[in-house]
Amino acid sequence: MSDKQPAQVQPADDGAIARAVHVLRSGGLVAVPTETVYGLAARADCTDAVAAIYAAKGRPDFNPLIVHVADVEQARELALFDDRAELLARHFWPGPLTLVLPLRPAARLAPAVTAGLPTIALRMPAHPVMRALLCEAGVPLAAPSANRSGAVSPTSAAHVAGSLGNAVPLILDGGPCARGVESTIVALRADGGWKLLRPGPVSAAEIDALLGDAAPGDNDTIEAPGQLASHYAPGKPVRLNAARGAPDEFMIGFGDIGGDCTLSARGDLTEAAARLYACLHEAAASAKPRVAIAAVPETGIGVAINDRLRRAAA
Ligand code: TXA
Ligand code: MG
Repeated sequence: MSDKQPAQVQPADDGAIARAVHVLRSGGLVAVPTETVYGLAARADCTDAVAAIYAAKGRPDFNPLIVHVADVEQARELALFDDRAELLARHFWPGPLTLVLPLRPAARLAPAVTAGLPTIALRMPAHPVMRALLCEAGVPLAAPSANRSGAVSPTSAAHVAGSLGNAVPLILDGGPCARGVESTIVALRADGGWKLLRPGPVSAAEIDALLGDAAPGDNDTIEAPGQLASHYAPGKPVRLNAARGAPDEFMIGFGDIGGDCTLSARGDLTEAAARLYACLHEAAASAKPRVAIAAVPETGIGVAINDRLRRAAA
């Protein structure tokens, strides 16, 4: 942690985790590292705590939150877990997969968490700091990405402090996020089909290999309301698939195409995902009024990277 960071940023050691558990149990907000991006956490069963998340982010109230759980048992208490959910949880939890499932009517949650939908988005994260918080707090935690609504997602404690400022009283610094893009979101439907709502570190092919090709092509009624066209935006025009940057453009390179910074000089997609938001934050902070970004292959985690880049450019 550099001495330039504000006082609310604390290294995520045992003492800070204990303070965070106290804040969370009391209904407060804490920004926490996960393996994907930093989340803005609050207890999901507390109406005021959930309202504080929406207020701090400036998030529209029709956009529901992901609820994070300590284990599969906690997930089963909140949602109707069918065989497909069990199978996916067994393969990918803890990890970067969010399941959208039918909400149990008796689940004790703040109604705003699901924005009034009959479904709930659930994820069991892998990051040791987030897992410690979930286990010690003993309640499910709602946690959207810890940025102002529509802005670039945070993959470091400094990104959180820069985006949310004093709106969040405590930020646990766990270093940079290893994955760098948000979890894959999959909706499991009552009719046996499934749908990818947001591409992420777990690929559609991996889901398909387990569930089979059961997704019906029509009846697309479940959507991720938060997947707005413009999102992850650095606040200036963004040009995609650029071969080189113009003098007034902050150029983000990839592979052989260089720039003011690079997603991955060796053309590695895993590294590119981990560095994506840091590069966009750098572009946002630069004096140059425009951003240009080299092409990224649409394979593996590249699908999620390109999804975020298209929304950053929209
Ligand atoms: O990796 C992640 O998932 C991170 C970390 C912090 O866990 N969280 C995250 O949350 O990305 P957020 O709020 O930025 O994105 C949640 C997405 C939104 O697009 C929202 O619309 C969708 O999940 N979502 C939540 N509940 C849903 C539901 N019941 N049905 C469909 N989409 C839902
Ligand atoms: Mg987000």
